[in-house]
Amino acid sequence: NTEKLSSARFAEATDAFVEEFTASVTFDQRMALQDIQGSLAHAAMLGKIGILTEQELADIRRGLAQIEGEIERGEFVWSIKQEDVHMNIEARLTDLIGIAGKKLHTGRSRNDQVATDIRLYLRDEVANILLQLERLQSALLDVAEREADTIMPGFTHLQVAQPVTFGHHLMAWFEMLSRDKDRLQDCIKRINVMPLGAAALAGTSYPIDRFMTAELLGFSRPSNNSLDSVSDRDFAIEFAAAGSLIMMHLSRFSEELVLWASAQFDFIDIPDAFCTGSSIMPQKKNPDVPELVRGKSGRVAGHLISLLMLMKSQPLAYNKDNQEDKEPLFDTVDTLLNCLRAFADMMPHVKAKRDNMYRSAKRGFATATDLADYLVRKGMAFRDAHEVVGQAVRLGLESGRDLSELTLVELQNFSNTINEDVFEILKLEGSVALRNHIGGTAPEQVRKAIAAARLQMAG
Ligand code: ARG
Repeated sequence: NTEKLSSARFAEATDAFVEEFTASVTFDQRMALQDIQGSLAHAAMLGKIGILTEQELADIRRGLAQIEGEIERGEFVWSIKQEDVHMNIEARLTDLIGIAGKKLHTGRSRNDQVATDIRLYLRDEVANILLQLERLQSALLDVAEREADTIMPGFTHLQVAQPVTFGHHLMAWFEMLSRDKDRLQDCIKRINVMPLGAAALAGTSYPIDRFMTAELLGFSRPSNNSLDSVSDRDFAIEFAAAGSLIMMHLSRFSEELVLWASAQFDFIDIPDAFCTGSSIMPQKKNPDVPELVRGKSGRVAGHLISLLMLMKSQPLAYNKDNQEDKEPLFDTVDTLLNCLRAFADMMPHVKAKRDNMYRSAKRGFATATDLADYLVRKGMAFRDAHEVVGQAVRLGLESGRDLSELTLVELQNFSNTINEDVFEILKLEGSVALRNHIGGTAPEQVRKAIAAARLQMAG
């Protein structure tokens, strides 16, 4: 079938370039199965209200089942003459079953059809994204459990600040992903509303049953306003915003992994399977996966802006502009699925170099705050203690020693309240163990946080 769409109205054929320029089938065929799903529900409803006979409905079901098979086997012939996924499928249906195929579009427009397809598609993909996100979360919980006692330097300004546990650091990542999960789940509430029945923009004169189609398609309800239904893409923008946050988080994780894998940090080993070499430098092992994920985060943020710009000046109701929503949306889905998957696969195999982490934490006077807190417990005001410890750090710097390596006599020169017990808190283990409250870095708290997270994920 190569006839022009609504050809009767036109005296001339479409310009060949314009045909190509306006077609979307090269990319929107991705929604083919959702298009069929939507058509099946619409046809069932038309059958129920008496617009299709039982025979016509049966023909439509048989035809669409055959088309679905052809698409799945890669046999379906897509044609840009038929512009988009919707017209391609409808034309093939009419080829296969004749007159009943021509009745399928009764009371429907491509405007409500495409809006329905995107929502069905996105609903499926958000579920897939949530699965990958949860895979990554479980991987993080496992590594955090393994590394609950592992001490590393915690940083502010990328300068050693206070010792933390590696498990605690990984649980910080976990928290970011929990918020991402909430956002996606919230997004589903607004994706899962059905536009079908809005027709071109004003609704339809047929006695359609929108509750029936909504139920058949698993939507929570039919949309409230036909004009809004065919022109709303808020849900896509929200999804891209949630996706941008996910990618921003993955990019931050990536940046840390790249730093930690460098010879200068040397905190972790990323397994060979997730790295590649250099074509010129034989010694190189590059952390390609996190680097690429960091790089890809920009695409999704770009898609968010594209979608916002796409919508911002559109008058009601449908405009062809909306066809431009698909590529950013699809690429957002692909990028999220691939990046989350790569991270979920990689994280269980990232090895902590515990000794290096420990040594690094010892080098940066990470327990200076602990010494100040110790002096406060002995009765000194915090601001004075801060000053005293500053002097002790200076002595350490000048003599090339950590605070724990200063002698008791040297420390007592700064304050005579200092006793032998100071060395316990100057040890990294003592420092982290003391931060034993909800949200703190003590191994005991990290284990509690992991247990709570596991419960939350199971529930
Ligand atoms: N391919 C179109 C899109 O992606 C389908 C809707 C076309 N509607 C129309 N009135 N031209 O938005």
